[in-house]
Amino acid sequence: MAARQRIRRCCVPLVGFGQVFKPALEDEPDVTSRLGPHRSAWVAITCMPLASCSGIQSTLAPAGEEAGQVATLFWVMAIGAFAIWTFVVLLSLYASRWKQRVISEGCAGRLIFWGGVVFPVSVLTVLLAYALWLMPSLRPFGSGDQADMRIEIVGNQFWWRVVYHKPDGGAVISANEVRLPVGERVEFELKSADMIHSFWIPVLGGKMDLIPGRTNRLSLRATKAGTYRGQCAEFCGTSHALMAFPVVAMEPATFAAWLDERSRTSAGVDDHENGRALFEREGCGRCHRVDGTGSQSDAGPDLSHVGSRLTIGAALLENETNALARFIAHPSSVKPGAKMPAYLDLSAEELESIATWLKGLQ
Ligand code: CUA
Repeated sequence: MAARQRIRRCCVPLVGFGQVFKPALEDEPDVTSRLGPHRSAWVAITCMPLASCSGIQSTLAPAGEEAGQVATLFWVMAIGAFAIWTFVVLLSLYASRWKQRVISEGCAGRLIFWGGVVFPVSVLTVLLAYALWLMPSLRPFGSGDQADMRIEIVGNQFWWRVVYHKPDGGAVISANEVRLPVGERVEFELKSADMIHSFWIPVLGGKMDLIPGRTNRLSLRATKAGTYRGQCAEFCGTSHALMAFPVVAMEPATFAAWLDERSRTSAGVDDHENGRALFEREGCGRCHRVDGTGSQSDAGPDLSHVGSRLTIGAALLENETNALARFIAHPSSVKPGAKMPAYLDLSAEELESIATWLKGLQ
């Protein structure tokens, strides 16, 4: 157990999930200072391959049906490759130590035929057949299931519009965070407002592009509740790497309650009048929508319940008043290429007022 914890301590920081998601590390002691520079470098190098096997954004730590199949395919391929590699290495060692002797042309031909044709062809055929057998279930709706719920995702430089379509025809608009019920099949309707982006939640399944002018569909089913991380997987401009999003897989009843809450105007809309007045005075509503106010534009992320999201700026900063104020003052200093203008003329008090009001939009 102690050894496992040690590996985890060393490996998790290497996964590189950015500043936001490192809940297990908050109170961790500085391991590297105790190890010394040489040993910590060695530990870092040896842990690197392990680091990709766990975490909130790993294909090899599946929390969904499709990701489970991708992981199985990976391990089957990896084990197959390792077996062939071992066989070839052993054969080379044997040949290099084998007493040199002339073999007949017929024997050499048989060796090439069985070792160079039959063996690789049969191994590759088995691996290919297995992959082809698995593929239909990895395609959207390959399993023949009907979606229990539809979530529309629109990629923008560099944020995500998220629209939950409810069975009764209503819709809940959000941004930069995806929540879904565990055990239910979700159809993602993928669109783009500008560039080609790619929607990828490694723990749930494969990726799919968002292409301007068309709608792509991706079907996923989460199997394990938890908080994970998705990421844009297609280079789309300066802040491509900063276009991520938290993914929360919730128990169906909790999800239903959460969605129901988000269908209503936030109670915080009428609190902190000064912040709301400043938000309106500065014309924030020309880009953003806040349910229950006159701000109704969809040019930027929907802020109706922004205070309740885990992060701001698409998994860039923790959702705190200070971070909100910092983002409003100078968005492109935290997210280069962001289209939102800077508000450097606002005083610290004014920024705090707007941020406090936004944080209250739960
Ligand atoms: Cu969006 Cu890369």
